[in-house]
Amino acid sequence: MKFFADTADVAEIREIKDMGLLDGVTTNPSLIAKAGRPFKEVVAEICSFVEGPVSAEVAALDFDGMIREGNILRKIAKNIAIKVPLTVEGLKACKVFSSEGTMVNVTLCFSANQALLAAKAGATFISPFVGRLDDINIDGMELISEIRQIYDNYDYDTNILAASIRTANHIRQAALIGADYATAPPAVLKGLVKHPLTDKGIESFLADWKKTGQTIV
Ligand code: G3P
Repeated sequence: MKFFADTADVAEIREIKDMGLLDGVTTNPSLIAKAGRPFKEVVAEICSFVEGPVSAEVAALDFDGMIREGNILRKIAKNIAIKVPLTVEGLKACKVFSSEGTMVNVTLCFSANQALLAAKAGATFISPFVGRLDDINIDGMELISEIRQIYDNYDYDTNILAASIRTANHIRQAALIGADYATAPPAVLKGLVKHPLTDKGIESFLADWKKTGQTIV
């Protein structure tokens, strides 16, 4: 499974990269607002040290506006994925960008039928929002399973990018189902390393090592 860092915080992205976990980055208008930096500037900085896809979202809701904004965003770097919302206009823009060889991330997906449309429009990534479905008592993972089955039934090569990931359990479940990617806040990605038995094991090994009175260096 590939991991994207779901953040526009450059320091956090660098840390995930140093851990060897980083396959790309996703941003959205809320994350850009949180970073408190000019959109194009921060996206360009992210692209300067991230090799994988970096999603940058259009703000326009109409087709012409999405094309105008996407044309500006995709000039920032070769690894930009234009993020468009799952609307009629967004699908039209997806079709244009993908047919021109630009990666497209279709976002705000909440149903299997929406995901089917995104694949037909040539999306590189579909972003089903797991956590936001869980928030309204609908099982977000069920959606990931349905999309996996549909894409496999018809051999769509659109990548399932599990988004709105809030917990380590979300990542485990999405990986078991076979989501191609997960995008998660850096804290969630870093949290995957934690296990109380690992900490306990380190503690007892260290105590025994001290008893030997030896040093390695
Ligand atoms: O990238 C968009 C998505 O991951 C947002 O997550 O937690 O705001 O629902 P969240």
